[in-house]
Amino acid sequence: MKTLVVYYSLEGNTKEAAEKIASSIGSDIMELVPVKDIPKKGLMKFIHGGSGATMGKGTELQPYTKDASSYDAIVIGTPVWAGKPCTALNQFLSDLSSTEKVIGAFAFAGGSADKCLSFLREKYPSIKYTVSLADRNSKKLAPENGSKLSAFIEELKSELISN
Ligand SMILES: Cc1cc2nc3c(=O)[nH]c(=O)nc-3n(C[C@H](O)[C@H](O)[C@H](O)COP(=O)(O)O)c2cc1C
Repeated sequence: MKTLVVYYSLEGNTKEAAEKIASSIGSDIMELVPVKDIPKKGLMKFIHGGSGATMGKGTELQPYTKDASSYDAIVIGTPVWAGKPCTALNQFLSDLSSTEKVIGAFAFAGGSADKCLSFLREKYPSIKYTVSLADRNSKKLAPENGSKLSAFIEELKSELISN
């Protein structure tokens, strides 16, 4: 199946995982790049990013580098912002004509990304596989990322081979 990994990342965690997933499953990859991103440093990033994400808002994106509608399966990745998916991912999902192609989702959080992933699964029931990953600064949770990500990749591979 022709597969696309689509992600947004402010600080690199989601980007690194997206690249690993795409190279492991042999898919294409597309980064979502906002026209005007939130600040990378300071409290303002939480205010700007958190408020938009809480309300489920999107954000204007630079032109997509891939035509998502031409893929059979899509895997999405997002950092958790105020408990929710980030605004760039919201925008992509609202632009996507066939959201039932989204079969997997991965999310990074300072704490747990479970709530954000449950939210996505509820809104997009085609999502069969999810993984909650921890920011690299989380000394307690980040060490589990490697094994969790490998299990997620294996699930995706078996889904993609069987279809
Ligand atoms: C605007 C904003 C809101 C955030 N809200 C949460 C949150 O509600 N819960 C949480 O655990 N982490 C939160 N974080 C932390 C990020 O989810 C975490 O650092 C993630 O690993 C960042 O991924 P990235 O490096 O791909 O940008 C927030 C970060 C930002 C910038």
